[in-house]
Amino acid sequence: MKERLDRVLAHLGLGTRKEVGKLIRAGAVRVDGAVVRDRGFKLDPEAALIELNDEPLRYARYFHVLLHKPAGVLTATRSESETTVLDLLPNALWRDDLKPVGRLDRDTEGLLLLTNRGELLHRLTHPRWKVAKVYLAELAADLPADAARRFAEGVLGFAPAELEALSPRAARVTLYEGKHRQVRRMFAALGAPVVYLRRERFGPLELGGLEPGQARPLSGDERDAIERAVGLA
Ligand code: URA
Repeated sequence: MKERLDRVLAHLGLGTRKEVGKLIRAGAVRVDGAVVRDRGFKLDPEAALIELNDEPLRYARYFHVLLHKPAGVLTATRSESETTVLDLLPNALWRDDLKPVGRLDRDTEGLLLLTNRGELLHRLTHPRWKVAKVYLAELAADLPADAARRFAEGVLGFAPAELEALSPRAARVTLYEGKHRQVRRMFAALGAPVVYLRRERFGPLELGGLEPGQARPLSGDERDAIERAVGLA
């Protein structure tokens, strides 16, 4: 598929479209051996040899980013008035076709995957694939003694979930679906409203040492693992 040269270079993390436009006009970019000064030049980024200052660049069609979403940020690609998860990405990780996989509430922290691979996003959010999501919840009241049994049976008609009590007012929960405010609604139904919520794991992906607000690209192993989890190896 043919794309504009400035878009391709921006996707490679070389700067905004405006910034890479300057590089192109300055003659720093070659396509298949020839200097191209037209930022709208159309090329197939997977087939063309692109060079910046005589160094070849590698273009990856699919791109996946792991973000530790902080509280107070909207899981959306754009908003008139609020900071979105896309606003948090540094230039080198930003691409205009990245989309969040599922949603974390504004007040929820934790692991959020962003991808530009539509089929991966579709499968990861489809109930058929039952991708495990693990959350740490802190609660405003003590858990009832039968909390784990009730989660296992399915609270409020949600699919069965696993609950591990960590203390009277903290628990780790594993869900295999992702409905709107599901964890908060499930705990509220037990009479123990959530006061803090963080997603620690999404399928095979873990937060590791990523601090709130930080992001990094998936490693090759992580990409293989998440694709395998939904039959896309
Ligand atoms: N469940 C919730 O209640 N909130 C989230 O952000 C994710 C799961």
